[in-house]
Amino acid sequence: MRILGIETSCDETSLCILDSMIDPETGNTTYINRAHIIVSQASLHEEYGGVFPAMAKREHQKNIIPALGELFKKLGETENRQTVFSEKSNELQNILEREPTVYEFLSQQIDAHNNPNIDAIAVTHGPGLEPALWVGINTARALAHLWDIPVIPVNHMEGHIWSAYANEESFSLPNTAEFPIIALLVSGGHTELVLVKDFCDYEIIGQTKDDASGEAFDKIARLLGLPYPGGVHISQLAKIARGNGQPNPFTFPRPMMHTPDFLFSFSGLKTAVRYTIDKEVIKDSNILSSEIFQQHIARETEDAIVDVLTAKTIRAVDQYQTRTCIIAGGVSANAHLRTVLKNKLETMHVTLLVPPLSLTGDNALMIALAGHIQYKKHPDTVVDDIRAVGSLSL
Ligand code: KG4
Ligand code: ZN
Repeated sequence: MRILGIETSCDETSLCILDSMIDPETGNTTYINRAHIIVSQASLHEEYGGVFPAMAKREHQKNIIPALGELFKKLGETENRQTVFSEKSNELQNILEREPTVYEFLSQQIDAHNNPNIDAIAVTHGPGLEPALWVGINTARALAHLWDIPVIPVNHMEGHIWSAYANEESFSLPNTAEFPIIALLVSGGHTELVLVKDFCDYEIIGQTKDDASGEAFDKIARLLGLPYPGGVHISQLAKIARGNGQPNPFTFPRPMMHTPDFLFSFSGLKTAVRYTIDKEVIKDSNILSSEIFQQHIARETEDAIVDVLTAKTIRAVDQYQTRTCIIAGGVSANAHLRTVLKNKLETMHVTLLVPPLSLTGDNALMIALAGHIQYKKHPDTVVDDIRAVGSLSL
């Protein structure tokens, strides 16, 4: 089966063509990534210190059809189905009523968009920024109408979970993954501990009460004057500080680390960092431009966030007696988090699965993969009136 994945929930326009083959004896699935494109808008949003929804929508509209053309070029296969664009142009215009730029691009570049044997389209329908999600959804609906194939609505967080099994070439997913699995999902908008009981069967056992861990990284980076998104910059500075081995003059709180639940809270950490920075600035107005100062703040920030995430994840693995643990989402790119968690889990003989760095952020490969998992289990969930649900839960 060949699935076109579409992801537009935030500031990445991403498309992927993923082939899957199910072994009739074992039920295991082998996946081959045929073509994958991620167009990032991050630099455009940088000056706003976060993602600006109206601009995200505009950029997705502008980028999605040209990206599809690029994707098909990468795929490099000859097209062997005829499109019937002119016959369907009125309906397509209706579907894309609110995305006129997408319609324009589609009508101009239709030659490039004959269907290369795609069987279904998997598209993110939440959670995320609704104006951005709609671009992906309506593009998926238009292409599905054009090619007469089904659309599978995918939960973005479900995509992040399964990204831990994926890579950019080929990979396989056992039919009998070792359930239950604990998945720590950490991104700019989410911090969740999920009990994965089976394919398509998830229970959120804990989440953040306020800021997400990625948001904490980003907001603290901003206090230090670092560009958005700031997680990676904090992580680089923290690494230097750790390498120097100097004692850190600062200590920040580890909010809720010892509470007997799976809840998180990161807004107090951000406030504590702000107080510390304000106090130091009063003593020395140039302190923010001191590299050493930035490194110390970054290291203690990273240590605090990683300590909390690790403690709660270990508690969950222990309580639910799981043999496999997943970390995924943008923050799972954090090297310190990976190392600390891996070392702790190793002593418990628990396997840690993490996506390759190229798949930690938002991408359409994970959406195509989650779409296939869903289709395999529930072929009936293919629906026509897909809606964007900004706060969609697992
Ligand atoms: O999953 P993602 O790409 O987008 C959302 O769905 O939010 O996650 C983005 C988040 C940002 O907050 C970013 O700062 C954070 O992931 N991030 C990191 C690192 N790389 C990205 N946080 C800590 N360390 C990193 N190396
Ligand atoms: Zn994400």
